[in-house]
Amino acid sequence: MAASQKNWKARLASLEKTAAASLARADVAPKLEKLQVRWLGRKGLLTQLLKELSRMSLADRRTLGPLAHRLKTDLTQQIEERKKRLRRESLQKKLQDISLDSSLPGVPCAVGSLHPITQVEREIVGVLSRLGFSVAQGPILETDEYNFQALNIPPDHPARDLQDTFYLADHPQLLLRTHTSPVQIRMLRAHRPPLRIAAPGRVFRHEATDASHGAVFHQVEGLYVDRRVCLADLKSTLAYLFRELLGPSTLLRFRPSYFPFTEPSAELDVGCLLCGGQGCSVCKKSGWLEMLGAGMVHPKVFEQAGYSGSEWSGFAFGMSVERLAMLKLRIPDIRLLYENDMRFLEQF
Ligand code: DAH
Repeated sequence: MAASQKNWKARLASLEKTAAASLARADVAPKLEKLQVRWLGRKGLLTQLLKELSRMSLADRRTLGPLAHRLKTDLTQQIEERKKRLRRESLQKKLQDISLDSSLPGVPCAVGSLHPITQVEREIVGVLSRLGFSVAQGPILETDEYNFQALNIPPDHPARDLQDTFYLADHPQLLLRTHTSPVQIRMLRAHRPPLRIAAPGRVFRHEATDASHGAVFHQVEGLYVDRRVCLADLKSTLAYLFRELLGPSTLLRFRPSYFPFTEPSAELDVGCLLCGGQGCSVCKKSGWLEMLGAGMVHPKVFEQAGYSGSEWSGFAFGMSVERLAMLKLRIPDIRLLYENDMRFLEQF
């Protein structure tokens, strides 16, 4: 072995010998980094030795190469371990310096929840979907045709009164829908029966607000169209819906009524939830609460949607979500639902 190779070997050995001691003395991260550069950097001692090695004979490279590479692996590993240890130690020291009081209360983590209107709306739609109804939606900005004409509400009908309907100032044919019933027409025109549709959504009425009326509220519309649908289907569907929503012993009463888009028409009352039928201020001493309007789809509505009335029959109903929410959750004033007062909302 030539003198230069001997010298190479000696330099490698001395590097190996001093490395351990230097590492042990490196007690902070910057010192470690310096060592890493000094040994393994681009101009580092070991890098230098490896470079020289590449100029030696094949035989020397075979004997000396593995020595240099082993040292390189060793040093890299030791530096890494040392770094980890220093990080661990400094963390431990930091933790020791912090004095922990485990008796302090935790920081509360606020959990959000659904608005009571959303909760009740989902409950209604949930029951209907178990009966095979699918959810449909229509636009809030409607045309006079869908909101009124196609529902057999003639131009002089009191429901169209300027007092009740918000029309768009520049577009007299556009309005904010006053009910979810126009979704019936949209669905009838877009799909062929059999149809079972639940349409929840916001509606608007130009009315003074008080404890039980808001200018904006929510309805859920139901529409069921098939062959030979009869009034008994409507009654049993609504009975199932309300006994699911309010309990199996809920009393129900159907009353004849009038809507232009149904014939016959009915309203559904439930036995007062607050007084159990005894008579109180909520049911105005009658023992009953009005829940919704319903009826058999009027032949004119089928006609408007392009159906032959003799083939198809159906029922429809529409109810206010706010009204049911107020009764179910014992909320005395509809305005509470729109004030977004956390103290109120957190109760549901
Ligand atoms: N659209 C009516 C309203 O807002 C409620 C209603 C009554 C809907 C009878 C219906 C129905 O589908 O058949 O007052």
